[in-house]
Parts: sequence; structure tokens; C-alpha cells
Amino acid sequence: MRSDPLVSKRYDLPTIWFHWAVAILVLIQWGIAQVIDLFPAGMPRVEARSVHISLGLCLGVLLAAQILWRAKWGRVLPPADKGLLQSLAKTVHYALYALLIVMVLVGIFLVYVRGDNFFGLFSVSAFDPNNKALRDNVGELHGTIATIILILAGLHASAGLIHHYLWHDGVLRRMLPGAN
Ligand code: HEM
Ligand code: HEM
Repeated sequence: MRSDPLVSKRYDLPTIWFHWAVAILVLIQWGIAQVIDLFPAGMPRVEARSVHISLGLCLGVLLAAQILWRAKWGRVLPPADKGLLQSLAKTVHYALYALLIVMVLVGIFLVYVRGDNFFGLFSVSAFDPNNKALRDNVGELHGTIATIILILAGLHASAGLIHHYLWHDGVLRRMLPGAN
């Protein structure tokens, strides 16, 4: 057990809210993607997909604001781990940011390739409409990146829980809103 409370300070509130808002939105996006095809073909499915697209765009804006905030004003805390574990944690954090950016870009491209209808209001004119292979490949890429993000986020969350419940070192606490 590591009982050193290396972390007496928390992240600043915007950093904390950005973190949890992005995490929750990613999970919601994954959940919606699993049920889109359960909606009857036609308007109900278009609407479910449009919710996924809208929240995906919100995620893009939130992510851009989060990255700007972290780069310019966010509180920098000492690393939570040492040595190899520290490098691993840092790599996973950067990988999550990078994959989320790619996810949003590929998602937008997917809408363009599919020529999706948005809530019945308008349709995006499809890029290369007869190219089914492109459509399938971009869709598959989008799905694969989602799976990788989920696996990495799962490992990352497990590390947070190990810090909290096994090592009792306050690392999870500094990503939670609180007094100091
Ligand atoms: C999709 C879900 C998640 C994503 C994309 C995500 C992403 C990230 C990123 C990119 C950072 C680095 C923040 C920075 O310094 O800029 C971070 C930090 C952190 N995350 Fe997550 N996270 C997710 C879920 C979780 C969960 C479920 C937990 C808790 C069980 C958690 C606990 C933490 C903690 C404690 C830190 C701070 C680590 C430190 O101080 O070194 N995260 N997260
Ligand atoms: C982290 C954010 C996101 C996650 C986790 C996510 C996840 C998924 C998954 C798992 C699928 C199913 C892929 C497959 O069929 O194999 C999907 C489909 C799709 N996603 Fe996303 N997505 C995200 C962001 C976005 C964004 C930003 C957009 C566009 C702005 C978008 C647009 C779409 C579209 C159009 C589909 C096709 C839906 C259908 O097949 O009916 N996604 N998404």
C-alpha cells in the first residue's frame, strides 16, 4: 500500500468538469451507436442517428475547449506515478486525446460519405455516393477507433480505481470536485 498523500491539491474545476463531461459523452455516444439499428428504418432511425451526430459534434467542441484549457490555463499537478508507470499513464492520456480527435474527424467524414439526413431537416450531399466500399471502410474505421478508445479508457479507469482503493494515494480524489 502506498499511503503517501502525494496529492494534496485537486485539479481546477474546469479541468475536472471537462474530464467528466467528455468521459460521460463518450459512453453515451457508444451506447447510442449500439441501439441505432434497433430503431425502425425511416424517420425513427434517422432521428436516433441524428442524436448521435449532434452529440458527436458537441463532443468535438467540448474536446477543443478542454485541450485549449489544459494547454493554457489548467492546473499542472505532479505526476501521479513514477518511472515506467508514469510514462504509461502519460502515453494513455495523450493517446486518448489523439484518438478522440480522430474519432470526431472520422465521424464527420462518415456523415459526409454516407450523405446522412439530419433530423429530416436536410441531407448532406454524399461524397462519392456509389462507392459502397468507402462507406463500409470509413464506418468500420469509426467503429474500430471507438473500441480502442473504450479499451484504453477502461484500463485508465481501472488505474484510477487501483490508486483509490488499493494505494489510497488521493489520485482519483484530485480529479473530483471538492474543497481544496
Ligand atoms: C471515456 C472515459 C475517459 C476518458 C476519455 C478519460 C481521459 C482522461 C485524460 C485525457 C486525462 C488526462 C488529463 C490531463 O491531464 O489533461 C485523464 C485524467 C484522469 N482520469 Fe480520466 N478519462 C476517462 C474516464 C475516467 C474514469 C472512469 C476515471 C475514474 C475511475 C478517470 C480518472 C482519471 C484521473 C484520476 C485522472 C488524473 C490522473 C492524474 O492526475 O495523473 N478517468 N483522463
Ligand atoms: C467518441 C465519440 C463517438 C463514439 C464512441 C462513436 C461510436 C460509434 C460506433 C460504435 C458506431 C457504430 C459503427 C459500426 O457500425 O461499426 C458509430 C456509428 C456512427 N457514428 Fe459515431 N461515435 C462517436 C462520434 C461520432 C461523431 C463525432 C460523428 C459525426 C459527427 C459520428 C457519426 C456516426 C455515424 C453517422 C454513424 C453511422 C450510424 C449508422 O450506422 O446508422 N460519431 N459511432
